[in-house]
Amino acid sequence: MVTRRKSPDELRSARWFAPDNLRSFLHRSRVLQLGLSHSDYEGRPIIAIVNTWSEMNPCHGHFRERAEDVKRGVLQAGGLPIELPAISLFESLVKPTAMLYRNFLSMETEELLRSQPIDGAVLMGGCDKTTPGLLMGAISMGLPAIFVPAGPMLRGNWHGRTLGSGSDAFKYWDERRAGRISRKDWQEIESGIARSAGTCMTMGTASTMTAIAEAMGMTLSGASSIPAVDVNHHRMAAAAGRRAVEMVWEDLAPRRILRRESFENAIAVAMAMGCSTNAIIHLIAMARRAGTDIGLDDFDRASRAVPVIANVRPSGSTYLMEDFHFAGGLRGLMSRIARHLHLDAMTVSGETLGACIADAEVYDDDVIRTEANPIYAEGALAVLRGNLAPDGCVIKPSACDPRLHVHAGPALVFEDYPDLKARIDRDDLEVTPDTVLVLRNGGPLGGPGMPEIGMIPLPAKLVRQGVRDMVRISDARMSGTSYGACILHVSPESYVGGPLALLRTGDVVAVDVPNRRIDMRVDGAELARRHAAWTAPPPRYERGYGAIFAQHVGQAHDGCDFDVLRTDHGRAVPEPDV
Ligand code: FES
Ligand code: MG
Repeated sequence: MVTRRKSPDELRSARWFAPDNLRSFLHRSRVLQLGLSHSDYEGRPIIAIVNTWSEMNPCHGHFRERAEDVKRGVLQAGGLPIELPAISLFESLVKPTAMLYRNFLSMETEELLRSQPIDGAVLMGGCDKTTPGLLMGAISMGLPAIFVPAGPMLRGNWHGRTLGSGSDAFKYWDERRAGRISRKDWQEIESGIARSAGTCMTMGTASTMTAIAEAMGMTLSGASSIPAVDVNHHRMAAAAGRRAVEMVWEDLAPRRILRRESFENAIAVAMAMGCSTNAIIHLIAMARRAGTDIGLDDFDRASRAVPVIANVRPSGSTYLMEDFHFAGGLRGLMSRIARHLHLDAMTVSGETLGACIADAEVYDDDVIRTEANPIYAEGALAVLRGNLAPDGCVIKPSACDPRLHVHAGPALVFEDYPDLKARIDRDDLEVTPDTVLVLRNGGPLGGPGMPEIGMIPLPAKLVRQGVRDMVRISDARMSGTSYGACILHVSPESYVGGPLALLRTGDVVAVDVPNRRIDMRVDGAELARRHAAWTAPPPRYERGYGAIFAQHVGQAHDGCDFDVLRTDHGRAVPEPDV
C-alpha cells in the first residue's frame, strides 16, 4: 500500500507538547515528572498499551509481563510505550455477566485514548468480551490500533485424558449428576481443566473472537492461536509493538482497514471455525461502530456457504486450540476457505489479507479439514425467524443432536433463572424428552446483560434416563463452549414484551432449522389477548451503571450496543483544543 508518512509535527501528541505556551509547558513538565527526558517522547509516536490485566483474570495472567514485550517493540521502533490499564472482564467470575460490561470497556477504551496524548494503541485482550470491548472502543476513537490476543491456555488433563474448557466441565457435570463419577474424580477434574494462563482452549467465545479480530485484519497475521505461554507469544507481542509505531507514521487507522468486506471475512472465518454464538452479537456491534450495517442475515447467508472445517471442540469432537495452532492455525484455515474471503481486504500489517496468507499451509488435515471433508457441511450457525422470534434468534446446529433440527413439542416455561433452578431437577417435573424447555427474562434488559444461561440444564430425571439433548429456547446467550439444541438470543426479548413473553406451558413450539423457522402454534387472536394482558416486569436497576445500561442498550439482533455509542461509525471524534 502506498502511504504518505506523517511528519513528527503532525503527531496527535504534538498538540499537547509542541506549542510554545504555558499549557504545553505544564504538559511537558509533567511528562518529565514521569522520569522521561524530552528525547524520550518529542517527535515520537506515543503508543498506549491498553492492558486488561488484573489479578482477578487468569486468562490474562501473563499480560502484566507480556506488556513488557510490547514496550520493547515500541521502543525498538522509536515510539514511547505508555501502559494504560483498563477494566479486566474475566468471563468466569464477573456477575451477573461480563456482557453487562462489554460496552463499559468499549467506552473506557475510547475515552482513555481520546482524553490523553496518544498517537496509536496496542490493545491487549482475549477473554471473551475484552476483544470486542477493546476493538469497539478503538474503532470509535479511530486512532491506529493493533490487537494482541491473549492466546489459548494449555490443554487440560485428567488421568491422561484431555480436558477442554467449558465443554468438559458441562460433560462431566452431567456424569456427576448421573452418579457416574466420584467426588474425588470431580475435584481432580477441577484442578486439571485450567492449567496455565491464557483463554479457554476450546472454540469458545475467546478463540472465536480473537480469530475474528485476525480475520478483520486487526492483529498480526497468525497471532490469534499462539498459545499464551509459548515463547512465540512474547515475540508476537514485541512485533505488535513495533508495528503500532509504524502504523502511526502510516496513519493506518481502523477507518482505512475496516470495510464491509473485512466483516464478511470475519463472518466466513467464524463459520469455518464452528464459532461461538456470541460472535454474532459482537460482530454486529463492531461492524456498526465501523459504519457497516452487518445483520443476522449476513450470518445465515455465510452459514449456508461455508462449512465448519476446524475440528475443534465443541463442534469438533477431538482437538483443542493448541492442536489447531500447530496444524497451521488461522492462516492455514483461511487458506482453505480463501474462495469465500475478500483477499484484497487491508490488515494492520499494511498488506492485504491475501498477501498475509499467501504462503499459509495446513499441516494436519484432520484438525483443519478441507471443504470437501468438513466437520459439518453447513456453517456453524443458523438464524431462525417466526412468530416466536420476529427479529430472529440463533442456533448452533453443528453442536446439537441432528434429530432435533426439525422438532415440535409442548413448551415447559420457566419465568426466569431462579424459577429454572428451583424446578428443573424436581422428580415431579412434568417433562419428556420431546418437551421444549423455555427460559424467559435472560435478554439484554431482562437478564440483565444477557447472561450465558441459555444452555438450560436438562432435567435430572431425564439425564438419569440417558437423555443427552433437548430443544431449549431463551432470550439469553450461552457460553461458546456450550453445546446442545439451544435456541438463543430470541429477539425481541421477553422482558420488553416480545412474543416469548406470551408463550405458556403446554403450547406447542415447532422448530425447523433447514427452513429457518421457529413458531408457537397459538393463533393470532389468542396472542393478541395475551399481549393485552401482559405487564412489564419491574426495572432491574434504579441507579448506577446498570441504570445507564438499561436506558441505552439495544436488542440482541442489533448487537446490544448502546444507542449513544453507535453513531460515530469510526469517524474522527472532534476534540476541544485545550
Ligand atoms: Fe476467559 Fe474463557 S473464561 S476465555
Ligand atoms: Mg465464554
